[in-house]
Amino acid sequence: MTMSRRQQLVRAAAQLQMAAADVRTIAAQREAASSAINATDADAVWLGTSEPVSGQTTLRRAWTSHRRPPEPDLRFDPSVPQPARIYSYWLGGKDHYPADRVAAEEVIARRPQVVAGARANRAFLARAIRFLVAECGIRQFLDIGTGLPAPENTHELAQAIAPDCRIVYVDNDPLVLVHARALLTSARQGSCDYLEADLRDAPTILAGAAETLDLTRPAAVLLLAVLHFITDTDGPAAIVAALARQLAPGSFVVISHLTGDFAPGPVLAGVEAYNTLVPTTLKPRTHSQVSALFAGLPMVPPGVVPLTEWRPVLAGQSPVSADMYAGIAHTAITRRRITT
Ligand SMILES: C[S@@+](CC[C@H](N)C(=O)[O-])C[C@H]1O[C@@H](n2cnc3c(N)ncnc32)[C@H](O)[C@@H]1O
Repeated sequence: MTMSRRQQLVRAAAQLQMAAADVRTIAAQREAASSAINATDADAVWLGTSEPVSGQTTLRRAWTSHRRPPEPDLRFDPSVPQPARIYSYWLGGKDHYPADRVAAEEVIARRPQVVAGARANRAFLARAIRFLVAECGIRQFLDIGTGLPAPENTHELAQAIAPDCRIVYVDNDPLVLVHARALLTSARQGSCDYLEADLRDAPTILAGAAETLDLTRPAAVLLLAVLHFITDTDGPAAIVAALARQLAPGSFVVISHLTGDFAPGPVLAGVEAYNTLVPTTLKPRTHSQVSALFAGLPMVPPGVVPLTEWRPVLAGQSPVSADMYAGIAHTAITRRRITT
């Protein structure tokens, strides 16, 4: 779908308005949470560093505005640990609350490697995007289970190589979308859009994505560290297949997924701790179970492998271990429309 310049400007203005509203929402939520991070930290969403983040001036102004805060979002409860915020804690970000930190630390106590695993997963994201953009010519990404903004987000990685890349970020955590809209801003030549949707609702995701992506052309669907939140009952392989069926020939599906294969005892203990505290439960899967999630799609070499071994930058070296598998598949040659 090609948008006129005027449509693009109208859309950009609407996105800016939403971002401004979102920044105010973030501020109100932080105020409402008595245990929220302190005011200095609130100026940056990613604080693995003390460096200023891009857009900080705008954000600081918004957070200190004297506007009346919006009504609290009832879906946001800082006392309930959430996957995105726990993951942010492991990555060294600062967008988490005590309940998230307790859950994150309980897992660390049982499987300390979870921290290295989370960071290795981000490194895999970077390798996968560079491969898809530079070697496969992909310019469109549907990133489902986006997580909170962190260094090297999908659009930054992709647009650093090809500024015209278009990205749709999807998450079912409203707070993730609030942060994403405020901070994940596209290069001028490309585009970023944001959808609040559940991975289990492929038709809604595809319909929303089609507003920004041209699904008659190749695209990559990113499912990084998200399918392990989908229970067997919800049919994760069928979900992947439903998404893949709607992609044009030459498209790709990227998956990374938690496994207990390398250290069953400690990983299971960590998962039990997580599932006791967090309503969105985790399901680790074996190599054959993760391979089955690709639903028979042809794999890009080296196939489904331990995540750090998927085309490592330094061949023959696996600097960190991660309790995760990763793989990238081609989509099928023919495509069919989902009927709803
Ligand atoms: C561990 S984070 C992964 C973030 C990012 N994909 C990465 O790999 O760095 C998992 C994300 O998936 C989201 N998520 C979990 N279940 C989901 C679902 N059913 N639909 C959409 N998003 C979901 C969470 O809100 C969280 O932001």
